[in-house]
Amino acid sequence: MSQLLNLEKNVIFPAKYERSTDLDEKLHTVGNIIESLKDKNEKYELLELIVDKLSLFELCTISQLMRETKSNIPKSKRLGIYPIEDFSSWERVKKMESTLWVSEEVKFVDDVASYEKFSEDEKRPLLFIFGFFAVGDGTVGEALLNYLIDCSSSAEERAFYNVQNYNEQTHNETYGRMILTLVRSKEERVKLFDAVSKVQSIKAMNSFIENVIRYPDGKRQIYISLIIAEFVMFIPLFSVLYWYKAYKKGSIKFTLFSNELIAKDEGLHCSNGCENYNKLPQDQKYSDDEVHKIFKLAIEVIDGFTNEIFEDINLPGIDAVNVSIYVRYVANVIMEKINHSVIYEDIVQPPFPWMEYHKYIRKSNFYEAPVGEYKRFNVDEAIKEAEFLSGDSPLRIEKEFIPEEFEF
Ligand SMILES: [Fe+2]
Ligand SMILES: [Fe+2]
Repeated sequence: MSQLLNLEKNVIFPAKYERSTDLDEKLHTVGNIIESLKDKNEKYELLELIVDKLSLFELCTISQLMRETKSNIPKSKRLGIYPIEDFSSWERVKKMESTLWVSEEVKFVDDVASYEKFSEDEKRPLLFIFGFFAVGDGTVGEALLNYLIDCSSSAEERAFYNVQNYNEQTHNETYGRMILTLVRSKEERVKLFDAVSKVQSIKAMNSFIENVIRYPDGKRQIYISLIIAEFVMFIPLFSVLYWYKAYKKGSIKFTLFSNELIAKDEGLHCSNGCENYNKLPQDQKYSDDEVHKIFKLAIEVIDGFTNEIFEDINLPGIDAVNVSIYVRYVANVIMEKINHSVIYEDIVQPPFPWMEYHKYIRKSNFYEAPVGEYKRFNVDEAIKEAEFLSGDSPLRIEKEFIPEEFEF
């Protein structure tokens, strides 16, 4: 506590300041004090105290200063993406860009008639999907903005998160349109858009993501938590959507089409998270026990959500038990991808023959996964061109490169 008082007396920023070496010195002093604190809670207490004293504009100024001085990426590379150096990230950027879509491609109005024909039991899981996703992608988007874009190890890794954030915006918009088109009752709509603060299990899922955004234990925790948030947490919801495809053939076609587009995006986001986690130096990764503990905590929250979805309803071929088995099956698949031992040794098969979601991360080649034909350009060609232009040393282009399809 004495350090907090010391900070209050000596280094609190003036209400208004100009960007100067004076500010740099103060930031430096604050940084040293924060680093010297061993207790995590004391650190957050101090940070909250600092944040309280600053306006939003001042915080943005600090954030900009930090980006300039602390970024892992040199200025020339932060501001100009070429020449490409981190090709594994760049390939994922191109894969994602090649399948970009806009929300207007999905005409939910054509689903209204079949949605209206659903029984109450058939509608109930959809309402949970709407309630969770009304803000789910926005919560992930905040994490990207807060940490990943600034803390990326390379400009190419950062580029992925920039494109991903566009994806999340599209998902967010798409679920909003889905709710407002399919749900006719105004009262019901208000409830759905506020489900994040009213429905206990949705609140718990969202808090899990938000806690990571607020207090991450380094990049390893952000990567792992987003893998959970963007892939594992969606399983109860996506299982239900695949169930409609298998059991209610021909209904809510556009809703299911948008789900395939979103599932494909989330598969790539999850794979990117796995690759970035795998790139961390060994001493910065979790042990098997640590990563299992995080997954088990998250799965407890997901189980609560799954139970609430299926409470008092009866649907053929799907229930809370087999969805929770599928959640654990996918957790095992992810463990294999991030080179940790599996968590649930007794679960080796997915419980649903009709469920394809895990294939988005199971396949090593992204385009072997479903909806692979949805491409705007040829990724292999794009990577070949990037490799040619980037050469083996920065800024080297020895001969003119004119792609065959260029027209002048
Ligand atoms: Fe998303
Ligand atoms: Fe995502």
